[in-house]
Amino acid sequence: MSCDICKARTLGGDRVLFSFGSVIWLRRELPRLEIEGRTRRATTCKYVVPKSEVAVPVAESMLDTIGNTPVVRLAKVVPDGAADVFVKLEWFNPTGSYKDRMALAMVTEAERRGDLKPGMTVVEYTGGSTGSSLAYVCAAKGYRFRVVSSDAFAAEKLKTMQAFGAELTIVASEGGKVTPGLTPRMIAKAAEFAAEPDTYWTDQLNNADSLVGYRAIGRELLEQMDRPIDAFCAMVGTAGLAMGVSSAFADAGADTRIVILEPASTAVISGGEPGAHRVEGTGVGFIPPLLDVNRYDEVRAIEEADGRTMASRLAAEEGLLAGTSSGLNIAAAIDLAIELGAGKTVVTVACDTGLKYLAGDLYAT
Ligand SMILES: Cc1ncc(COP(=O)(O)O)c(C=O)c1O
Repeated sequence: MSCDICKARTLGGDRVLFSFGSVIWLRRELPRLEIEGRTRRATTCKYVVPKSEVAVPVAESMLDTIGNTPVVRLAKVVPDGAADVFVKLEWFNPTGSYKDRMALAMVTEAERRGDLKPGMTVVEYTGGSTGSSLAYVCAAKGYRFRVVSSDAFAAEKLKTMQAFGAELTIVASEGGKVTPGLTPRMIAKAAEFAAEPDTYWTDQLNNADSLVGYRAIGRELLEQMDRPIDAFCAMVGTAGLAMGVSSAFADAGADTRIVILEPASTAVISGGEPGAHRVEGTGVGFIPPLLDVNRYDEVRAIEEADGRTMASRLAAEEGLLAGTSSGLNIAAAIDLAIELGAGKTVVTVACDTGLKYLAGDLYAT
């Protein structure tokens, strides 16, 4: 095995730092380095080697398989003359969504503080993605998990939580829609469970521990992109993802325009009235407590129909099968790319896999 950049051969004892796409970054632990046939001493060396030449290390637990997701450049759906659009494919996480990052962060931060101990029960209300992720983390760590959700959300997500052993309580929706009263009713039910002894309520809408998990997306993007990121956009639910990425970019001194997005039919952050929609995980009907006005530059209201059309186009034209909110993210990213023009770079995320929505009408022809 040899380094693509310095042509040095590895001498064993290398440690994988991180990997994504087709390359793996290694840090050499031995202080010897063979360059052009001569052995020299080196303190550290950062290798970039084709992934095919080195095996991905064995994970000690399913919890070690989160993160380091790939980024893809959109090839077909971006019009000529627009900026380049890149999408971070967060469905590569174990339950098919970026929520795995925040679920692990919320649980491990609570453990670190001593708020959550073995034998306790974790409680949460969820549209299903956070619930699936928390159910997976609780299964891997051995916690009982009581979860409150609704029939407004994908049946696949509800079944995923149950597959991981979660105890599911359903709050009935109005006709399968996310209406302004739904989230408060789910929160009230979760609060009831949380009042019981030996319970830890992760309380995702108010829990800044989630940012610990999301900041990693920002750091990975800064490592992965070989150029400045001019704009980043993301649909907002709890606002955890947008705030986490934004703070990681700010810490790195990145000059990136942060554009947060919400469904046009419930454009509350933009100053509109709450309303119904079917973009799961977003548009909670009020300003999410984690949203920090200093951490974004602009808010945009996106038509749900445009995002749904984009989701279908992405599957058929790019081979990218993502969920509804990802469709809205990418529709907005393309609008930004058209505004910024050629030579600029727009980045967004595919929040989750389209496989979670196959029983619904997102991909129905
Ligand atoms: C599918 C999906 N997209 C987008 C979001 C919004 O992410 P955040 O809550 O970090 O703002 C969520 C959150 O639940 C989600 O499940």
